[in-house]
Amino acid sequence: MEYTAHRLDEVPSTINVLADLAMAGAPEGTYVTAKRMTAGRGRNGRPWVCAEGNLFFSLLLRPTQARASWGELSFVSGLATAEAIGQFVSGWAIKWPNDVLVDGKKISGILLESCSTPQGDGLIVGIGINIAHAPPVEGREVVCVSESAGRTVSVDAVLEALLARFAHWYHIWQTQGFEAIRAPWLANAAGVGQKIRVQLADGRVANGVFSGLAPSGALELDGADGQSQLVLAGDVFLL
Ligand code: BTN
Repeated sequence: MEYTAHRLDEVPSTINVLADLAMAGAPEGTYVTAKRMTAGRGRNGRPWVCAEGNLFFSLLLRPTQARASWGELSFVSGLATAEAIGQFVSGWAIKWPNDVLVDGKKISGILLESCSTPQGDGLIVGIGINIAHAPPVEGREVVCVSESAGRTVSVDAVLEALLARFAHWYHIWQTQGFEAIRAPWLANAAGVGQKIRVQLADGRVANGVFSGLAPSGALELDGADGQSQLVLAGDVFLL
């Protein structure tokens, strides 16, 4: 992947700035970083708190693959981000679909948003990594890279690792498809074979054993009643 960098000081959200660049015809591989965001966005309409010294990154993809497969990039992003963080700390794991945990605490969040542009549809991958600070996230324990590593780690070092791991896994996905992502993702996933609780998108809660990742990317949940279900969207809590 060829990258085109826009490294900015302060923006409302790196996603919005990149969406504007995409509308103006920016190619795949264009990315935006900012030192500060004044209106950072998280999943499910939640804010993403900005603390200067953390990484705020958004990357534009214009995949040529069928639109139906773009959700798989959620796992490509999670794997790349986790491996990048894993170059600095131990005890990391991916929480379905793409949070990264260190010692069970959230260290990164990823938000994918599609954008329609005159050049065709694109996908923006927004990645936040706690590096110097760990701002609170409701209902989660949080940690940052420097705290876990026991030394000061620079934003640039983590960004460099992220760009390299993303290029690697995106290439694998493009050339070999999701099956080549699923196994390494599962090998690094938190809670596989264990009891979890899932807060489903419609507000219901499901409990069961996290038994695997379906070819579609859905979480396979085996209930105590012997029934299995596929979870397409929701928040996982490891028990
Ligand atoms: C989550 O809720 O876990 C996802 C958080 C995603 C945050 C990143 S930071 C860079 C990009 N710009 C944003 O406004 N949000 C994403």
